[in-house]
Amino acid sequence: MNFEHTEEQLAVRDAAREFAKSELLEGVIERDTEARFPSEQMKKMGELGFMGMMVDPKYNGGGMDTVSYVLAMEEISKIDASASVAMSVNNSLVCWGLEKYGNEQQKEKYLKPLASGEVLGAFCLSEPEAGSDATSQKTSAELNGDHYILNGTKNWITNGSTASIYLVIAQTDAAKGHKGISAFIVEKESEGFVIGKKEDKLGIRGSDTHSLMFTDVKVPVENRIGEEGFGFTFAMETLNGGRIGIAAQALGIASGAYELALAYSKERKAFGKPISQHQAIQFKLADMATNIEAARLLVLKSAWLKDQGKDYAHASAMAKLYASQVAMDVTIEAVQVHGGYGFVKEYHVERLMRDAKITQIYEGTSEIQKIVISRSILR
Ligand code: CAA
Repeated sequence: MNFEHTEEQLAVRDAAREFAKSELLEGVIERDTEARFPSEQMKKMGELGFMGMMVDPKYNGGGMDTVSYVLAMEEISKIDASASVAMSVNNSLVCWGLEKYGNEQQKEKYLKPLASGEVLGAFCLSEPEAGSDATSQKTSAELNGDHYILNGTKNWITNGSTASIYLVIAQTDAAKGHKGISAFIVEKESEGFVIGKKEDKLGIRGSDTHSLMFTDVKVPVENRIGEEGFGFTFAMETLNGGRIGIAAQALGIASGAYELALAYSKERKAFGKPISQHQAIQFKLADMATNIEAARLLVLKSAWLKDQGKDYAHASAMAKLYASQVAMDVTIEAVQVHGGYGFVKEYHVERLMRDAKITQIYEGTSEIQKIVISRSILR
């Protein structure tokens, strides 16, 4: 067993760390307060190759492994989880799904601009009445000659208004249940496609979350991904990998908060000495460091399994379940270490605490991860 990263992986991690500090840190509090998407920064992330990291270079990607991707996700998430969720969705839900299951024409037309970061993608599965229960899709796609007619509403869509290319899951044959669900590529300019309200959120406030409405939207048959009826498997397989990205995001939020708490504990004095010299704080730091390390091992193992071509569905669910709980626990303790300063925006930890919560909800709630894990144990 080798716990060392390669030189390439370390170089990617360092580049992401440097970018986060030099480009994302400035203005992160204001973007959070104003719920403003980091548009300029995302453009630069595309130029640096962070938006299609694992895609084959022949489709404008970085050709990197999943381990490099999670190292980069952790670094970006330490500073700005709103930027990292846009990065994660583009990389592991949109680009991965298209590269794995799209045909050559779809890859040429859609994957190339997505992988280079020229445009952003969105993954549209959740609906007002289909969140955890993803098989209950109400959005319908009816075949009509050389195109489908798409009708329905999608909710809580990351990159909802900033994306140009949308992967939309819809019901093509309701009688067949989840085997009657299909996946489509929808362009933003399609007639009848309306971007709905922007969500006003507790955390990751800089991320762009919208509902989307489709009314008689014409989608060419050539924009269907795979066969009719393949959409649910497509969504599940894609989310198996997506969860590695969100687990890495949770890890980054936790380690970002821990690093701030550690530094603060060495500066802040109470009862005549730095608070890091008090056992009450030392034990908090010890718990944070241990739990972060355990989460990191789960995240890296799931990434490694994926890179090895082994089954990783249960490992990614475990990584997300555990890392998201660590993100909550560590950020709450980081606020506590900061005392009153932790409760104000200037010290960043209150934002990280708010950002942590979504990692227990999106790309499958913690309860859904337990379903995935228990089914894999019991099968
Ligand atoms: N990987 C591969 N296949 C899977 C799978 C997985 N993790 N989970 C289920 N499947 C397959 C099953 O094998 C089954 O296939 P067959 O019929 O061919 O055997 C099929 O899917 C249906 O599965 P179930 O019978 O288990 O269906 P279910 O309704 O009982 O449960 C579920 C399915 C696991 C709960 C699923 O609905 C689920 O994962 N829900 C959560 C959805 C989710 O993660 N949403 C996130 C939204 S996207 C997002 O958040 C993006 C963002 O913007 C940040």
